[in-house]
Amino acid sequence: MRTHSFAGMDRILTDIEGWELREVFSESLEYQELLRLRFNELRKPLGLEWTEAEGEADKLDRHFGLYHEKVLVGSVVVATLKSGFAKLRQIAVARPQQGRGVGIRLMAAIENLLAREGVQRFELNARVDVAGFYDSLNYHRKGGVFEEIGLPHVKMIKLLRGNESA
Ligand SMILES: CC(C)(COP(=O)(O)OP(=O)(O)OC[C@H]1O[C@@H](n2cnc3c(N)ncnc32)[C@H](O)[C@@H]1OP(=O)(O)O)[C@@H](O)C(=O)NCCC(=O)NCCS
Repeated sequence: MRTHSFAGMDRILTDIEGWELREVFSESLEYQELLRLRFNELRKPLGLEWTEAEGEADKLDRHFGLYHEKVLVGSVVVATLKSGFAKLRQIAVARPQQGRGVGIRLMAAIENLLAREGVQRFELNARVDVAGFYDSLNYHRKGGVFEEIGLPHVKMIKLLRGNESA
């Protein structure tokens, strides 16, 4: 397991009792490690490879890693849809750490950071069989089920107080 000097990262975003959320530059070694985590948890189990479109989207979006004691444990990609609106994608926790509250911590950290930047509306496309995870974080289903990467998905949104009409 790799620990970090964090040369490829621009800043520490939270540091509470050994937990750090870090934004990672897309050309860095740390980004490659995030990509591996995402691949292992989100694509490999489905027998899929990254598509060219996914590679292009990655260049536009922001990449965050959650580290515990400097070891990468979770990852999330953030797209800004428009001012105040963010789309979270590719949320993943490394398998050995799943089911221990790391996903909740990852979501809380990224929501807190983005809220401080002015985001009031979060959206994501949840795999239907994982929607219960987002239910527990007060995301609400919006619209019907659709297919992405061959799996049923549902759009889920979360509005922060004061933006109930978004
Ligand atoms: C989904 C994922 C991010 C959740 O992270 P995690 O660290 O395993 O989840 P946590 O331990 O923080 O769980 C928090 C709560 O959500 C629930 N939960 C976790 N995974 C769930 C799932 N797949 N379905 C329903 N509820 C789930 C847990 O039971 C827990 O509730 P509890 O506190 O009442 O027990 C993680 O399991 C993962 O990376 N899975 C593989 C990749 C994936 O499916 N990503 C999401 C794509 S939309």
